[in-house]
Amino acid sequence: MSDDAYKVAYEREKKARQLAEKLLDDKTRELYDNVIDLEGTLKKLKSTQSQLIQSEKMASLGQLTAGVAHEINNPISYSYSNLNCLSENIEDIFKLDQLMQSYDENTSNASDIIIQYKSLRKKIDADYLIADTPNLLSDIIDGIERVKKIVNNLKKVSYKGGDDLIPFNINDCIKDCLKMLANELKYSMEIKLALTAYDNILGQPSELSQVFINLIMNAIHACESNGILSISTKQTDSTVLIYINDNGRGIAKENISKVFDPFYTSKAVGEGTGLGLPVSHGIIEKHNGKIEVKSEVNVGTTFIITLPLAPKT
Ligand SMILES: Nc1ncnc2c1ncn2[C@@H]1O[C@H](COP(=O)(O)OP(=O)(O)OP(=O)(O)O)[C@@H](O)[C@H]1O
Ligand SMILES: [Mg+2]
Repeated sequence: MSDDAYKVAYEREKKARQLAEKLLDDKTRELYDNVIDLEGTLKKLKSTQSQLIQSEKMASLGQLTAGVAHEINNPISYSYSNLNCLSENIEDIFKLDQLMQSYDENTSNASDIIIQYKSLRKKIDADYLIADTPNLLSDIIDGIERVKKIVNNLKKVSYKGGDDLIPFNINDCIKDCLKMLANELKYSMEIKLALTAYDNILGQPSELSQVFINLIMNAIHACESNGILSISTKQTDSTVLIYINDNGRGIAKENISKVFDPFYTSKAVGEGTGLGLPVSHGIIEKHNGKIEVKSEVNVGTTFIITLPLAPKT
């Protein structure tokens, strides 16, 4: 190559390099500006997210309070109105007693007192009052027991529990729950087990039993006849998966997002508190796990729980 040709080639290559460097410089600057922009967007997103979480928390708190008020109002109202009736009844019955107490064997005429007694009995409809009293009392006790159940379940919802997690086998825990529920299951459900997870998890067996019992009870309630309850466990590298499946009536699409809401129940008044699943959700979260639900109307429902395995020692 001649000197001139070399110079031209050199200059061309130098220009191309300068152009490439400038391009790279521009692109780097552009990229840098984009990163700055993205960081700003991320910051904004984070703050929106925390605001959303906060307002979601406030919404759940309001919902929970309204739910508690609504659920407790009914049993308290009927217990209160029954107590009023009972106190009127007792006042009338006391009048009969006062009349008898007024009898003085020196001055009173026994037959007069008996006539007055009979007439007062009729006036206050004593036969009815006496027959009605046990019903009133048992309704009051029912109402108070219902409030007690709600309050107990609420305590469980908010209970954070101790930290005394112990290693245990989830399959044994499930089998124990099935034993506990043997009576409920005996005539109503066929049970299929495929428990293949083998390593221990770290947790509180009594709390997790509560979750399984609630899920199994829900499955029993969802099935009429020919109910099949299938429970299986599987193990992955770091987790245990628990599937609790039934072939019951299922959950409609529009309701599936509500099942973990406190007080959501499709059961008749007095039959379900609608706290079983929120309590279970809280317990699973506390164990650093998750609980999901899949369901199809008239086909069945599956609850899937994922729990971390106990760290290997
Ligand atoms: N396996 C299931 N099949 C169909 N529906 C279900 C199933 N599990 C839960 N549900 C629906 O979710 C609702 C809420 O369940 P949750 O356990 O929280 O309360 P509950 O069973 O109604 O009352 P409680 O648990 O106090 O007896 C149920 O009423 C039912 O409508
Ligand atoms: Mg339940």
